[in-house]
Amino acid sequence: MKPVDAVLIGAGVRGMNTFGKFALTRPESLNYVAVVEPDKEKRDMFGEHHDIPESKRFVNCDKLFSKKPMADAVVIATPDRCHYENTLCALDAGYKNVLLEKPIATSVSHCIEIVERAKQANARLMIMHEMRYTPLFASIKLLIDSGAVGDVKKINQTEQVGNWHFPHSYVRGNWGNKATSGPVALTKCCHDFDIFHWLVGKPCKTVKSWSKELYFREANAPGQVPSKCTDGCSHSKTCPYFAPRIYTQAKASPKLKAHVHPSQDHEMILKVLPESPYGLCVYKCDNDVPDYQETDLEFEDGLKVHFVMEQENPNCTRKIEVVGTKGRITGSLDAGELFVYGDGKKRRVELSGDPAEHWGRRSASHPRFCLCHTRRDHQSQNISRGSPAFSSYRLRSRRSKAHVEESRHGSVHRA
Ligand SMILES: NC(=O)c1ccc[n+]([C@@H]2O[C@H](COP(=O)([O-])OP(=O)(O)OC[C@H]3O[C@@H](n4cnc5c(N)ncnc54)[C@H](O)[C@@H]3O)[C@@H](O)[C@H]2O)c1
Repeated sequence: MKPVDAVLIGAGVRGMNTFGKFALTRPESLNYVAVVEPDKEKRDMFGEHHDIPESKRFVNCDKLFSKKPMADAVVIATPDRCHYENTLCALDAGYKNVLLEKPIATSVSHCIEIVERAKQANARLMIMHEMRYTPLFASIKLLIDSGAVGDVKKINQTEQVGNWHFPHSYVRGNWGNKATSGPVALTKCCHDFDIFHWLVGKPCKTVKSWSKELYFREANAPGQVPSKCTDGCSHSKTCPYFAPRIYTQAKASPKLKAHVHPSQDHEMILKVLPESPYGLCVYKCDNDVPDYQETDLEFEDGLKVHFVMEQENPNCTRKIEVVGTKGRITGSLDAGELFVYGDGKKRRVELSGDPAEHWGRRSASHPRFCLCHTRRDHQSQNISRGSPAFSSYRLRSRRSKAHVEESRHGSVHRA
């Protein structure tokens, strides 16, 4: 089957390392024919990786959208505040398949307008809510829909952002300041709210949310500290956030390094850190998003969700408990563990996937995008509604050997 031809807008960390990497490892599915990226180094790097000629490496969207659509699809991986304009321009230019990074936009009215305009243009719009396609959450959805725990009464979920990820992204990085990105409940927790809505399948009636004082404040610094780690900080040996060390240590995530410099090269990182936001002292940034937030949601029929976002824990994971009238489900994303309790028994559900890849999370939704595109006549593949798309997905219980299988059309059968 011919791969989907796509244009990438925004060759940053997601564009280069997630969407770009997918096409390099699955050339039969996805092929980039053009890129838009204002930063020359990133633009050329992406262009070279994907053999894109100079004439199709654009500095801004105006040049791309002034021409006829040059691909089947557009992938938008620009900063949150650009999503609205980029998406509307792509639809106006006649692109019929748009894969847009979360969050859809940074205001409710913009989100609604994007969805409406996609419908009017008869275009397919998929939002990168990849959690739905992880084996953990996809399995929980199938278990709930199959009635494994009866009627769901309550969901408790904790998102542990990770005490290394939070200071990188939500203190020093792109999502630390509401005015330049959005509230953390949107920029980080939109994945969780999407999951709740999807699992519950009912309208939400009330939302209450509260947050704690910010930890990353000058008052919590270990003493006198300069604004930049590289300006001779006397706490460099003991501070867990000392930038030159954390961005050059072997165990640091490649994506963290890529935010500092696309090459991820340690010499380059040390060279750019003094002028980079990632070289700032974590206690002296312009961050204003909370590092702890609790939210209570009440859905129709009294179903309740309690959600906590926290950063203190070193693990970057999500833990969920679903309480039903006949039993309970518990799951952990990083551990790849899923248990179902009922009839006095506990059974483990085997999940497929690679723990290093968050049990399939990183790549799962890209094949779906390509699949939907290539089967564009099938009503059941309407991606703007976000229906589950695995053509066959099995949950095997070690004890009973029972399995639940989702059909091509999204219904659930028991065997
Ligand atoms: N689905 C997920 O789990 C997930 C994870 C991380 C980030 N994201 C989302 O992905 C998006 C990108 O995040 P990132 O980490 O790659 O950020 P990034 O800053 O690394 O990349 C953004 C890129 O867009 C470029 N850019 C800025 N304005 C542009 C414009 N008008 N046209 C074209 N390019 C432009 C920047 O130069 C930069 O290279 C954000 O919306 C973010 O919320 C989603």
